[in-house]
Amino acid sequence: MKTKIWLWTIMALFLTIIQTSAQSSKKSGKILVAYFSHSGNTRNMANQIKEVTGGDIFEIQPLEAYPSDYKTLLDQAKTETKAFYKPALKAMPKNIDSYNIIIIGSPNWWSTIAPPVASFLSKVDLKGKIIVPFMTHGGGRMGHSMEYINKLCPDSKITEGLPIRGNEVTDADTKQEIVKWLKKIEIIK
Ligand SMILES: Cc1cc2nc3c(=O)[nH]c(=O)nc-3n(C[C@H](O)[C@H](O)[C@H](O)COP(=O)(O)O)c2cc1C
Repeated sequence: MKTKIWLWTIMALFLTIIQTSAQSSKKSGKILVAYFSHSGNTRNMANQIKEVTGGDIFEIQPLEAYPSDYKTLLDQAKTETKAFYKPALKAMPKNIDSYNIIIIGSPNWWSTIAPPVASFLSKVDLKGKIIVPFMTHGGGRMGHSMEYINKLCPDSKITEGLPIRGNEVTDADTKQEIVKWLKKIEIIK
């Protein structure tokens, strides 16, 4: 009888340990905030997310910089997004494999992610990783970007994204909105 009780106790203890470790790996992990920004709004949002999560930060930069002339930029971005073009990047983060949560930010360009972000997502093995999208925009919110991100990361868990208007990233309540979103999707407690 005593041996039976002992066996049950050990089994219960074993099950509790397994359950606890499964729960913590679902919610915690090493975080990378990776972003592309042309005029600074997405960079600002990325820095706020870094502060809130304590993750590492990485700026995605195309090998060839985009034109500063707005009209030329619009035209080039239109052609590239339409063609699902993926430009070469200056660099990739070191030890990308060590991150299991990648918070990925882009400006909304023609209703989708900017091409360098597509390059980044297609260059990395994202199998089993949690992808957390965010975007700054001029009114179009996330546009169709979630569809494209889903296509680029077929083996990842993609969470709800957060769009913030470019001219509102510096507002006092933006950080609260970021915290609320990260809590809702269980990236922070
Ligand atoms: C080439 C280009 C295309 C854009 N297309 C859209 C769009 O389709 N929808 C939208 O809401 N905003 C659009 N915008 C506005 C940007 O998404 C917005 O200004 C964003 O905050 C810029 O981010 P950044 O400062 O990090 O580059 C576009 C801006 C550029 C330069």
